[in-house]
Amino acid sequence: MNAQTDQTEVEPTPETLRAPAPPDLDYRLRQQVILSEFGVEALRGTDVDHLLQRAAELCAQGMGAEFCKALEYQRGADTLLVRAGVGWGPDVIGKARIGADLASPAGFALKTGRPVISNHLADETRFRTPQLMADHGIRRAINVLIENRDGAFGVLEVDDTREGMFEEADIAFMQGFANLLGGAIERQRTETLLRAALARQDLLAREMSHRVKNSLAIVASLLALQARAAEDPAVQTALADARSRVEAIAGVHDQLWRQGDKAGDKAEGDGEGVPGELDLAPFLEKLVANLASGVPGQRLACTACPQRISADRAIPIGLLVNELVTNALKYAYPPETHPAGGEIRVRAERRPEGLVVEVTDDGIGLPAGFEIGRASKSLGMRVVGSLTRQLGGSLTIPARETGTCFRLEVPLAG
Ligand SMILES: Nc1ncnc2c1ncn2[C@@H]1O[C@H](COP(=O)(O)OP(=O)(O)OP(=O)(O)O)[C@@H](O)[C@H]1O
Ligand SMILES: [Mg+2]
Repeated sequence: MNAQTDQTEVEPTPETLRAPAPPDLDYRLRQQVILSEFGVEALRGTDVDHLLQRAAELCAQGMGAEFCKALEYQRGADTLLVRAGVGWGPDVIGKARIGADLASPAGFALKTGRPVISNHLADETRFRTPQLMADHGIRRAINVLIENRDGAFGVLEVDDTREGMFEEADIAFMQGFANLLGGAIERQRTETLLRAALARQDLLAREMSHRVKNSLAIVASLLALQARAAEDPAVQTALADARSRVEAIAGVHDQLWRQGDKAGDKAEGDGEGVPGELDLAPFLEKLVANLASGVPGQRLACTACPQRISADRAIPIGLLVNELVTNALKYAYPPETHPAGGEIRVRAERRPEGLVVEVTDDGIGLPAGFEIGRASKSLGMRVVGSLTRQLGGSLTIPARETGTCFRLEVPLAG
C-alpha cells in the first residue's frame, strides 16, 4: 500500500486531488470532435478489437496522454485483461492482466461502476499501483467503466507518467467513448448470436433436403427394380416414367442441399441467396444431363441463365421439363426418318414477361391436330397442363418449320 496522504473513502463522484484549472475551450472542443468521429466508427460496426484500439488511440490523443488501454473483465479469473492500448510495449496488449479488486483503480471503477481519477498514484491510500503501471512509471490514472446490457465489459483507462491533473471533464470525454464501446460490443454480440442461429437453421434445412433427396433416391431405385421385374412392357414404361419423375423432384432437393452453403452469399446475377431457394440453372443442367445419360447417342443441350427460384416453383418446372424432354426423346426423331437422331435444346431465360423455358427439337413435329388442352388420354400432357396451371404460367407452341418447340412462361414475383 502507498503512503496515506490521500482520502481513504471512496467518493460517489469522481475525485480530484485539487480543483482543476479552468478547462481550455479549444481543448474541450477538440475532444468533442474526436468523440463524435469515434461515434461514427462505432456505428459502422467494425469488429470489437479494432474499436477498442481506436478508442484507446483517440482517447489518448484527445487527452494528450501517453498511455491508454481498454481492459476486458475476465469473470472466471477476476482479472482485467489489456485488450487494446497505446503507449504499452508489445508484450502488454492481449497478455497483461491487472487485478480487478477494489484496491486497483481499474478494479475500483469496474466493481463500483464509478469513474475514478487518481492524479498521484504514488501517494494513494485508496489504491495500490498495479505492477504493470509501476513498471511503466505511471503517475496518474483515470478510469471509466465500459458496460452494456450484459453487465460490465471492462474499463477504459488513461495513464500518464508526467505531472498533471486529470479533470472531471476528462471523465465525461472518456465516458462518451466507454458508452459508445458498450453499445457497439452489445450489438456485435447480438449479431454474432443471430448469425449462429441463422447458420444452424440453414444447416438443418440443408440436412432435411439431403435426407429428402436420399429418400426419393430410394423410391426411384425401387421403381427401377419394379420396372425390371415387370413383364408387361406398358407397365415397364409406366414405372420408368414414374422413376424419372421422382428423380426430377429429388434433383431439386439435391440442389437445395448443394447450393445451401451459398445461401446468404450474393447469388450470381440475381439477388441474395435465401434458404429454400435454389439457382435454377445448375438444377436444369443436371436434370437434362441425367435424361441424356439414359439415352446414349441423343444430343441434349441446356442453356439456362442464373435465376434464384423457390423450391416450390423449381419442382413443377423440373417436372415439366422432364415430361417435354422425355417426349422429344421418344417421338421427335423416329429411327425410320431420323436414323442419326437430332438435337434437343432446353433454354431458360429471364425476360420482362417472366421466366421463359423452352424445349425445342428439330424432329418430325407434333401429330396433326395436336392441342395442348386436350392432347391425349396419356398422362404426360395432362401432367404438363396441370403443372403449368400450378405455376400460374402459360404453355404455347410457337410455329416452326421443322420440329417442335414448347414454350413455358412463368411470371416471377417482384
Ligand atoms: N417433341 C415431340 N415430337 C413429336 N411428337 C410429340 C412430341 N411431344 C409429344 N408428342 C406427341 O404428343 C403425344 C402426347 O404426348 P404425351 O406426353 O401426352 O403422351 P406420351 O408421351 O405418349 O405418354 P406419357 O407421357 O403419359 O408417358 C405423344 O404421344 C406424341 O405423339
Ligand atoms: Mg410423354
